Amino acid sequence: MQFIESLSALRELRQSWRSNGQTVAFVPTMGNLHDGHLDLVKQAKSLADKVVVSIFVNPMQFGANEDLDAYPRTLDADRSKLEAHGVDALFFPAVEDVYPRGLTEQTIVEVPAISELLCGASRPGHFRGVATVVCKLFNMVQPEVACFGEKDFQQLQVIRTMVEDLSLPISIVGVPTRRQEDGLAMSSRNGYLSAEQRATATRIYAAMKQMHEAITARQESYDDIERKASQTLMTAGLTPDYVTIRNATTLQPATPDDTNLVILIAAFMGTTRLIDNMQLTLDQA
Ligand code: PAF
Repeated sequence: MQFIESLSALRELRQSWRSNGQTVAFVPTMGNLHDGHLDLVKQAKSLADKVVVSIFVNPMQFGANEDLDAYPRTLDADRSKLEAHGVDALFFPAVEDVYPRGLTEQTIVEVPAISELLCGASRPGHFRGVATVVCKLFNMVQPEVACFGEKDFQQLQVIRTMVEDLSLPISIVGVPTRRQEDGLAMSSRNGYLSAEQRATATRIYAAMKQMHEAITARQESYDDIERKASQTLMTAGLTPDYVTIRNATTLQPATPDDTNLVILIAAFMGTTRLIDNMQLTLDQA
């Protein structure tokens, strides 16, 4: 695996692959890799001749109250995992190279509407930071295809929208969420939980399964289903930010006519904000 820190070296490598007619699948990450990320790598390997993974802890997507410095940086372990999974190149740019003029003078990519909902409402500017860095990374790596986890469902939809709006010649592939045996979605943030908090956090998956059953039973209104699930989470000791049933494409509140739905939950376990989701398709009523 090649370890690449400079844009010029990345461009050179990309050009040599292009002249050999080789395609590239890209997996952008912020490091601290777990099995969920490795699923993205496996998917990427099946989609192109070469796989590039980036590790870049993007300061632009962290809010003023979110601790960028505390974000776990585990480069040596990440590097070994990627090497073992047959990644061709690890791109590890410095902040000064990604944002040479600093954050405030950087041209930004703003995906309206969808970025302001849900996590975007609780984390103002977060998706602007994500869209900006992903657009830049796409231009640096120039992949044919890029893989993102469905765990960050809203992020995936923001990126799909950006790619469509900016006519970027890249296919976006969503990869299903990897879960622990007890249902907890794998996330770098799980490392912040105590054993007791981790056990409580599994209630999020349980709540989504109950919501799924209730939606398909078509006996209760979506408002009632959301309210009950929220109450269950609170009783368990979580603090929900949102518990909601949405149209899976627009992320607007689901109407009775929508058939492609997604259940989205964000909840605090102590100070750790966890997110999860479950998609479902209803038969036409
Ligand atoms: O999902 C992530 O790890 C990040 O938001 C991403 C897509 C790498 C952009 O920094």
